[in-house]
Amino acid sequence: MCGIVGYIGDDQAKDILIQGLKKLEYRGYDSAGIALLEESGVDFYKEKGRISALEEAIDDNAAGNIGIGHTRWATHGVPSRQNAHPHQSRNKRFTLVHNGVIENYRKLKEKYLSEVDLNSETDTEVIVQLIEHFTNQGKTTEESFRQTLSLLHGSYAIALLDNEDKETIYVGKNKSPLLIGVGKGENVVASDTMAMLSVTKDFLEIMDEEVVLVTKNSVQIKQLDGTTVDRNTFTTDIDESDTEKGTYNHFMLKEIDEQPFVIRNIIQKYQNENGDIKLEPEIRSAIREADRLYIIAAGTSYHAGLVAKELMEKEAKIPTEVHIASEFLYNEPLLSKKPLFIFISQSGETADCRGVLVNVKKHGFPSLTITNVPGSTLSREADFTLHTYAGPEIAVASTKAYTAQMAVLSILAMDSARAKGIDARFNAMQELGLIANAMEALCDQKDKMEQIARDYMYDTRNCFFIGRALDYHVVLEGALKLKEISYIQAEGFAGGELKHGTIALIEEGTPVVAVVTQPHVNGNIRGNVQEVIARGANACIISTEATEEKGDHIVLPEVHECLTPLVSIIPLQLIAYYAALHRDCDVDKPRNLAKSVTVE
Ligand code: F6R
Repeated sequence: MCGIVGYIGDDQAKDILIQGLKKLEYRGYDSAGIALLEESGVDFYKEKGRISALEEAIDDNAAGNIGIGHTRWATHGVPSRQNAHPHQSRNKRFTLVHNGVIENYRKLKEKYLSEVDLNSETDTEVIVQLIEHFTNQGKTTEESFRQTLSLLHGSYAIALLDNEDKETIYVGKNKSPLLIGVGKGENVVASDTMAMLSVTKDFLEIMDEEVVLVTKNSVQIKQLDGTTVDRNTFTTDIDESDTEKGTYNHFMLKEIDEQPFVIRNIIQKYQNENGDIKLEPEIRSAIREADRLYIIAAGTSYHAGLVAKELMEKEAKIPTEVHIASEFLYNEPLLSKKPLFIFISQSGETADCRGVLVNVKKHGFPSLTITNVPGSTLSREADFTLHTYAGPEIAVASTKAYTAQMAVLSILAMDSARAKGIDARFNAMQELGLIANAMEALCDQKDKMEQIARDYMYDTRNCFFIGRALDYHVVLEGALKLKEISYIQAEGFAGGELKHGTIALIEEGTPVVAVVTQPHVNGNIRGNVQEVIARGANACIISTEATEEKGDHIVLPEVHECLTPLVSIIPLQLIAYYAALHRDCDVDKPRNLAKSVTVE
């Protein structure tokens, strides 16, 4: 989490940094700051709160052609102006921004900086003070920087300014994402490409434990021991307009509406001229050779994994386990002999997933990442990648990335079934086409979803979501959507579990949303709805045409029963959106959250 930017060139750095930080605000938004290097020295501004607060605090005359910036998601130290980045060394020679967590910062402080009074509660400040400490011993800035980085345990993406070298931004990376954007007579540093599309579309990847010396006209990559590294740039295909809200008030609503387009895009990308599924043969053989699939993911991506398990087991008959990445990391289950690990991650940067991938590679097991960001850490480090082609997802609450993950996984399941000579119960490409149409029809019913949000969620403290079989996985996601953006305590339950405890929480007026799309458990879940209604619940039923009964609140267009999650989630996303809106919550940037969770 946290986003960092840097600029060096002939333009004024301030505006480029602020624009870049606005694009990175999804990575954290509890405080922000920039530093500008001028002839007279470093000028820096930082504020608690959003980038807009920082913008107001910056002097109109602030100038400088070199600068760095940061938007923070607090790990060590409360969100405050004092803990906001940039941080400066004691004699103010060095100024630094950092994304990541330094695990051994206390030990480093005790060992090298016992004389230094720190100005903040952050782990970051230790880095900048250490750099100064080593230069005071006669080392150059580059040597001190490399030495400091070699002492750090943990994750970092760092941009550093030296008041005595007004032509270089020093950059370092380990585990946290960082890219260098290469322009003409100007270069930039950023946590992701979106932040700097206004300057360039050409970027250089930086690997772990590399340092980079960025000047106006050059980019020099080195390893921590000083060995120089050559690397070519890549050109991103993201358009600046993809990262704008356009006519929408919120990215979340724009991204919900984009889902039909995303699904159609996935159909195109995964189909060849003959209409057959297009997939790397190596991925096919990795799946064929595996005796068990282990899906590793977090949050919404984990919920997509639960649906994927059903598809892989029921269609392709491949035993599949789904694990929460942070649990698997420190509590590894007994593994099969020939596992294939599948990482599902929108950002491709989730630290818990990466931790598992590092271990998987140590074991020598093959790995596949399913991600929306192909150049991301999980994509680079896994053996194979499948791209979800959802386009940049900016709202913190994931919507289109989730349905894109399930769409790609349904194609993978059908392909894996075919490879084993099994007839899957659905033709993924055909069904995905129908799903895109169904999504469109539901997105056109916003007034209805808004009314449900008003009727059920306007002033409730809590809300329950129930479903059985595939619908159970969807209600977990529906509850997560509602709680993360509206702050209503929302929980998803398997319908049959209610009687085993949770039903005690049902009171007069408690909202209960039931998803009813699976004909074989239709009667059971409707029975559960009656049980909660009998105890005063205010029930809202979302069903498919196949399971519809008089009085149901939303009836979903007919799609194959194995793929209903791609459609039944749409009303839940929209209801969560409108609930948050009517409760005056910050829909795109909910409190305490960040989009890309790059710390464990
Ligand atoms: C919720 C949400 C999160 C993410 C989770 C994993 O709306 O977006 O739960 O799904 O943080 O992130 P990725 O998919 O980037 O690994």
